[in-house]
Amino acid sequence: MPGHHTTNGFDLDEFLARATQAVNRALDRFLPPATVRPATIHKAMRYSLFAGGKRMRPALCLAAAEACGGSWAEAMPPACAVECIHTYSLIHDDLPAMDNDDYRRGKPTCHKVFGEGIAILAGDALLTHAFEILAQSRGWPRYPHPRLVVELARAAGSLQLIAGQVEDLEAEGKKISASRLQYIHERKTSALLCCAVRLGGMSANCTPRHLRALTNFGYHVGLAFQVIDDILDVTQTSEKLGKTAGKDTRAKKATYPSIVGLEKSRQIAESLTQRAFAALKPFRGRARALEALATFLLQRDR
Ligand code: FPP
Ligand code: MG
Repeated sequence: MPGHHTTNGFDLDEFLARATQAVNRALDRFLPPATVRPATIHKAMRYSLFAGGKRMRPALCLAAAEACGGSWAEAMPPACAVECIHTYSLIHDDLPAMDNDDYRRGKPTCHKVFGEGIAILAGDALLTHAFEILAQSRGWPRYPHPRLVVELARAAGSLQLIAGQVEDLEAEGKKISASRLQYIHERKTSALLCCAVRLGGMSANCTPRHLRALTNFGYHVGLAFQVIDDILDVTQTSEKLGKTAGKDTRAKKATYPSIVGLEKSRQIAESLTQRAFAALKPFRGRARALEALATFLLQRDR
């Protein structure tokens, strides 16, 4: 990733450094200490949660709250809840029964360190704990707690995140259509990113119009994110990615580069990002953090 990131005078590096620090502190507070019995599970949960993830989903959640005139403090429970779900999904995705990966975020995967049984349980515990954290949100008459819970449960459930993972597993080794691949990407990646920005907006008691704009933004940024993830798997080294590169090809995974080629994939990511920018119009300049994040995600190299 080249140099310092500024978009229209907005200092993204500074924003991300502050957001990451605030999110890490909050996650540390929300999770049981590593010494609490049974210590193994709390160590495993914390091992993966603090393994050096980019914190993109929480950053998007905080940025969405900002765009709607809200505060980081009120966006922090949903931001952390989404990161817990994300981390659980990676722990389970890396298991031998799924993608069978030994490295993630530059470190041995959870099951490599703690064994499969504990890794499964660490994922389960993070998924469950996400809802306990979300319950600590403030809630508004327009967005009461049941609404927030449904929002996260749907994004993580069998119609979205799990649906994407199921079809991803079933598509392995098969030649699938571009529209089926889009179905997978919308669910396994875009849904949770979209949920992160929507919950950020809800934490700020956003208007229905702003919520629609965030949904549109989150959907396109999320889809672009997975297309770029596919591209990086073929163009980057394992060292850079912190996980095994070139795995999609070896596992005969359906990806954008394998179906439409690398050049076309880049064009698709670019045009999805443009659509995401366009979605921010109703914020009339108050969504600079979201804009900068979308630019950064398009240019990311890990
Ligand atoms: C990388 O995120 C992860 C993705 C692009 C999502 C992939 C989706 C799955 C593995 C679905 C798994 C679902 C289940 C139910 C097992 P990132 O680049 O933000 O990672 P980071 O947090 O390490 O930076
Ligand atoms: Mg996978």
